[in-house]
Amino acid sequence: MEYFTLYNGVKIPKVGFGTYKVIDQSAQGIVETALSVGYRHLDTARMYMNEKEVGAGIAASGVARKDIFLTTKVWRDDLSYDDTMASVENSLKDLGTDYLDLCLLHWPMPETDREKWQEKDLSAWRALEKLYKENVIRAIGVSNFLPHHLMPLMKEAEVTPMVNQLEYHPGYCQAHAVHYSQQQGLLVEAWSPLGRTRVLEDALVLELAEKYGKTPAQICLRFALDNHVLPLPKSSSAERMKANLDIFDFTISPEDMSRLMCMPQTGWGGHHPDTF
Ligand SMILES: NC(=O)c1ccc[n+]([C@@H]2O[C@H](COP(=O)([O-])OP(=O)(O)OC[C@H]3O[C@@H](n4cnc5c(N)ncnc54)[C@H](OP(=O)(O)O)[C@@H]3O)[C@@H](O)[C@H]2O)c1
Repeated sequence: MEYFTLYNGVKIPKVGFGTYKVIDQSAQGIVETALSVGYRHLDTARMYMNEKEVGAGIAASGVARKDIFLTTKVWRDDLSYDDTMASVENSLKDLGTDYLDLCLLHWPMPETDREKWQEKDLSAWRALEKLYKENVIRAIGVSNFLPHHLMPLMKEAEVTPMVNQLEYHPGYCQAHAVHYSQQQGLLVEAWSPLGRTRVLEDALVLELAEKYGKTPAQICLRFALDNHVLPLPKSSSAERMKANLDIFDFTISPEDMSRLMCMPQTGWGGHHPDTF
């Protein structure tokens, strides 16, 4: 596995395994399978309601905790200092671990008191900063933060965010938000890097899959990596999990990257942080 390095020196495996909708009886087994085929980076969230299963999958896998990069997130209902502290404490308990590799604020806008979002983000951020300074969390960051959400936070932060996790795939690559985040020194991670399959039948993606002798999913994942964005594909099948890791033996040419960057919007998940 290759790594990106965060600005604080923490190394993060270049592909992570997504666990949204990995729930119920099969969840522990799916996590175990992901670890057995080679994933060493897992992405979960308090909101996915699967942290117990993810923790059980890690415990049953036989892979040492120190060899796994584990991310969770604080839900937008918990954007206050105390609620964020409680959220992380519950995540640690459910995941069966005493530290997190990465913890993110999931969305910048709360459901209620939306006009106070800057104050609420900062209050939650103060909790993550404290846990970072106490070495409970090795890296802290945000998710779905557009530049105008990041700017006020960056002005007040004592520890600036290390990661921004955004929806990112051919057809929806949020170029401005990615560019701004990267310029500020954040690593961008791609959620829904396959557009939840919505972009796998796109004509350009199919054409490039044929040209490079890869699957449409592998084109989407390499597209992220070639833009220094870390993809987090989810799959419930061992075969597709393996295929989604097999993306380190090719790159996409600058011309083809440009075609992918410039394709018409397609496959957007429909969530905008300011409006939903
Ligand atoms: N921060 C946020 O707000 C946020 C939001 C959404 C997601 N996320 C994170 O990002 C992760 C990934 O996003 P996602 O789960 O929304 O979508 P995704 O990874 O883009 O797509 C998952 C879908 O693609 C299918 N799939 C996987 N590999 C495939 C392949 N090689 N060929 C064809 N189909 C394939 C899966 O089906 P099978 O399971 O049947 O293989 C599943 O239906 C999540 O699991 C979560 O960890 C974060």
